[in-house]
Amino acid sequence: MTKILQQPEWPNQKQYFKIIQEIKHYPQLVYPNEINNLKSELKDVAKGKKFIIQGGDCAETFKNFSQNMIQNKLKILLQMSAIIQYSTKLKIVNIGRIAGQYIKPRTHSYETRGNLTLPSYRGDGVNSIDFDKVKRQPNPKRLIQAYHQSASTMNLIRSLIMNGFTDINQIQSWNRDLLNNSPLGVKYKTIVDNITSMLDFIQESGLVNNQYGESDSFNLYTSHEAILLDYEKAFMDNNFCCSAHMLWVGDRTRTVDSEHINFISNLDNPIAIKIGPTIKIDDICRIYEKINSTNESGKVLFISRLGEKNIENILPKLISKMKYYGSELLWICDPMHGNTITAKNGYKTRNFNTIINELMSFFQICDAESITASGVHFELTGENVTECLGGINNIRDVDLDQRYETTCDPRLNNEQSLEIAFLIAKLLKEKGEGIEKTTY
Ligand code: PEP
Ligand code: CO
Repeated sequence: MTKILQQPEWPNQKQYFKIIQEIKHYPQLVYPNEINNLKSELKDVAKGKKFIIQGGDCAETFKNFSQNMIQNKLKILLQMSAIIQYSTKLKIVNIGRIAGQYIKPRTHSYETRGNLTLPSYRGDGVNSIDFDKVKRQPNPKRLIQAYHQSASTMNLIRSLIMNGFTDINQIQSWNRDLLNNSPLGVKYKTIVDNITSMLDFIQESGLVNNQYGESDSFNLYTSHEAILLDYEKAFMDNNFCCSAHMLWVGDRTRTVDSEHINFISNLDNPIAIKIGPTIKIDDICRIYEKINSTNESGKVLFISRLGEKNIENILPKLISKMKYYGSELLWICDPMHGNTITAKNGYKTRNFNTIINELMSFFQICDAESITASGVHFELTGENVTECLGGINNIRDVDLDQRYETTCDPRLNNEQSLEIAFLIAKLLKEKGEGIEKTTY
């Protein structure tokens, strides 16, 4: 068997496998019928009837775990969906990076500070972010905590959906105080007022089942990177992997013959593959053939994360190569992971303008290649963090330490996320025409 990439070095293998066995007996986190629902929604995406928003933390943590925080994650996705759906009339398929995103791939296996070299942080599911000899050792007991936190997150999401919190009729209650006075808040409020008066009209006139009728209540699917294969295999139910509705394979593990591609090619879940600039053009078809030999519609999403500087050069070639498979393959854009930089004061960050430039290029390229842009993928949070530069409040290098909370990659904050949702709505409506890129 080939070496499995990006696996932690567990100090005690026996304990690790014992814990994996234990998790095998736990209830699954999602169910095959829900996975099938997502698959059927993705078939609608392939027909151009729906649009995907996939978003959430780079890494969920044990610390940032409260009812309020989970609710805020949902609220920001709900708000973005409302903006795009209202402006474009396209229904949204919401997929959170949530309820399982606890393990991270790393470029370097070790981190050195001064004279001390320790294993890199691989997500709270494996070890601690604290740079301490004991805490950085991979500890499989953490997988149990990751499981339980995923389960309670799922529990809250299900309860919020069941109790109508995510219904469009609740749009007034998703407002965030902090937005009320900002220019973006005013723009958002106009949308909320329009939707509210439309809903009032629907009620008064007795109409249902129209754009915002009963059948449009929000659904949220879960996703995370399938990286720790033993953990994922503990959730098998026939060919469904029930740790999340959708799984993705990251840019570091998606080589054609990797164990990660072997694993996901046998699953019935929808699968996403991150496509970074090191992709070999001939490999992209081989990967696709391996995971979707029957060319099932909406089964595979390619997440382009090429970076603002590479997208124009690489993406058209990839799209042309894949055109043979038709609209069954979905292309979505992650404008975050190819654009990470280090700020002057050492913070890992991303520039808002770079992110939106990549996004705009993506839409323009899809248009030029006559394919549909099927969705977007972001690292974002409902909290008002200061992790990415720029945006409406013009976060600068010196502001980054005000509220820098991510343990891994920098996320768009609440307002930056809404700003991007307005841009996406515009791009979808205008198909990229006449939109000027930002220079900086
Ligand atoms: C991620 O999505 O957090 C990630 C590590 O992505 P990629 O595999 O694209 O680098
Ligand atoms: Co990330």
